[in-house]
Amino acid sequence: MTPEIRLTETPAHARHGSNIGQSLTRRDGILKVTGKAPYAADHHPPGMLYAVLAVSTVARGRVTFLDVGAAKSHPGVVDVMTPVNKPPLAEDPDAKTNPFMFRLDLLQNDRVRYANQPIAVVIAETLEAATEGVTQLSPGYEALAPRVGLDTDESFVPPVVGVGNPAVIERSDVVAGLATAARTIDATYETPPQYHNAIEPHAIVAVWDGDRLSVDTPSQGLALAQARIAGLFGIPPENIHIRSPFLGGGFGSKGLISGPQILGIMAAKLVGRPVKLVLRREQMYGPVGHRAPTRQRLRVGADDQGILTALDHHARTASSTFDDFFEPAADASHTLYASPAIKTSHEVVRVDAGTPLFMRAPGEATGSIALESAIDEIAWACAIDPLDFRIKNYAEVEPTSGKPFSSKALRECYARGAERFGWSKRPLEPRQLRDADGFLIGWGVGTATFPALMFQAQARAVIRADGSGVVETGAHDMGQGAWTALAQIAADGLGVDLEHLEFRSGSSDLPDAGIAGGSAHTATAGMALHNAGAALVGKLADLATRDERSPLFGAGNTGVIARDGRLFRRDDETRSESYANILKRAGLPELEARGSSDAPNSARADYAMHAHGAVFAEVKVDPDLGQIRLTRAVGAFAAGRIINPRLVRSQLLGGMIWGVSFALHEEAVVDRHSGRIMNANLAEYHVPVNADVPCLDVLTVEEHDSHVNPLGIKGVGEIGVTGSAGAVANAVWHATGVRVRRFPIRISDLVTPL
Ligand code: MOS
Repeated sequence: MTPEIRLTETPAHARHGSNIGQSLTRRDGILKVTGKAPYAADHHPPGMLYAVLAVSTVARGRVTFLDVGAAKSHPGVVDVMTPVNKPPLAEDPDAKTNPFMFRLDLLQNDRVRYANQPIAVVIAETLEAATEGVTQLSPGYEALAPRVGLDTDESFVPPVVGVGNPAVIERSDVVAGLATAARTIDATYETPPQYHNAIEPHAIVAVWDGDRLSVDTPSQGLALAQARIAGLFGIPPENIHIRSPFLGGGFGSKGLISGPQILGIMAAKLVGRPVKLVLRREQMYGPVGHRAPTRQRLRVGADDQGILTALDHHARTASSTFDDFFEPAADASHTLYASPAIKTSHEVVRVDAGTPLFMRAPGEATGSIALESAIDEIAWACAIDPLDFRIKNYAEVEPTSGKPFSSKALRECYARGAERFGWSKRPLEPRQLRDADGFLIGWGVGTATFPALMFQAQARAVIRADGSGVVETGAHDMGQGAWTALAQIAADGLGVDLEHLEFRSGSSDLPDAGIAGGSAHTATAGMALHNAGAALVGKLADLATRDERSPLFGAGNTGVIARDGRLFRRDDETRSESYANILKRAGLPELEARGSSDAPNSARADYAMHAHGAVFAEVKVDPDLGQIRLTRAVGAFAAGRIINPRLVRSQLLGGMIWGVSFALHEEAVVDRHSGRIMNANLAEYHVPVNADVPCLDVLTVEEHDSHVNPLGIKGVGEIGVTGSAGAVANAVWHATGVRVRRFPIRISDLVTPL
């Protein structure tokens, strides 16, 4: 029976009331803080063995020797998996049948393509025995000089960039635009390799039962992982059950199943027993993705009124020698500023590193720190306040596509953020502000933007005989609060209280919730849940309004609303009937319906869809020592309907901290001679601690975007990174007068010039 109304046409919260918009605490919070939330590595099935990876200490060459005998004779070692004895695979791990496949190192041969590549797996009765067994392997190598950095010879222009954009986009003539400019800048910015460093390492517990496989492993994309495993082992996807209820962070690195996770499954197959494999921290620097380094040249022109005439953004970045993911950095210039001439282009070099992968705000993070620095530089060249310059030049219509924005509250973000920060007191010139101790103070601004994406997803909703609800979708909670926000959406869609709703998620036997990535998970899984609930309410309304015995008889499907597990007549709310009663009278033990996310929706052909924001940062710099301290930052963001203000604030804060980290802290240092990462640990790979981010303030600007999806949801997971990195970099310039174009900004960049 098709419901006569589409319950998605009016916003769910207006219809049903209660849950969307509430600052509920995380539903899984108590489980987590009491240690009762099971993470993958907490599982210990009977008979389980421990697998430990042996990884390459060279970055390019071949493995010529492994002392398998010594490792196998170590007490407790059960077996050693090498290219010689690994179980056969049904698919070449180097094959790629769709762009969302990551080529994997699964011991297919003796070749070494990057440092930390798995070269063997030792399986033992204890973790200690497996770890010691690895040391017995004493590998020998035939090593070649690694290709590292961005100056290697072999480069290519990729066929597509990011989510399918062409590698080069040119609108009008940037050379002519630069020629007519009154002021120009031509500057090159460099960003380093970065690693996701989720606190929970990639981990897997794999149990085979004949040709059926049961897996506990963190995943941001259960259905994709299931399909990849099915292909590699030649078994139907439904034979594979993956549980991933909780992730200790992901940031993109758990979006596609990684080689080490598959090696855990292979090890279990080899020994015929359950196997656990957990990456050591340093082993996460190679086989599980990273953010590639970039070198970006920005040429920007403005006329004598400070209006942009040309924007040329060229990004050179790196991919591995055997796969093609890279950072779509120049795409950041597609959408923000209304230059009449815009060109973006990409070029990729091949280096002996693990393949890069999406990492929180891929492309936007790297691209926007360069773009926002360049905008600051051209504003300074024009002697215009950098916020005023942005307000003069931000795009009202997406410049590269020509489409209007589905909504754009950027101007209000600028205004509200500036007011909260106190921006109007900012002197134009650098080095004008000092605190009582003589520290130089600088203020910087950056514009934030991130596309409002949506993917395909499915969900199922059930009302049981007692009137309680069940909703199911295989969503992924990597700490962002999906269990909570999605349950809020589901409860409103179904018209039941959260207390009477069972929310099932985090498992591959549930309907596919798509990938938790691209800041699209709440919109994607949320719309599927909402639509499943709405379809079920439609069925209940059909049952009641067509039955003479119901107080709702004759009201028609559009004549009722759903709330608190009941349907009410719209024109007379004293007349209502509970879901339990409707089912009972119809003699049904339960009623179910399914919903999907309707992505991509047709409005995407007509509108450019993005979230926006503005970030303001203050730094203090020691004029003698060059030490930089972020002292405060304010971010104002417009991101559509806010499902849960508490969780959204946390996501935006987290993104802003990533931005601070980008500008001041994070860098993986590659040794040019060995190709190894010298700081593959959390002690030397710097990220901000609390003392580095003492005072952050987040404002959300109300925004109703009816085009992105019927609930008006945009993402908040990644946008916080994009404005913040540039704001901090620009604040350092304003404090010191020194423009640092290589990130992270170091003390040594400032101490000499000051
Ligand atoms: Mo994210 S990089 O979309 O997990």
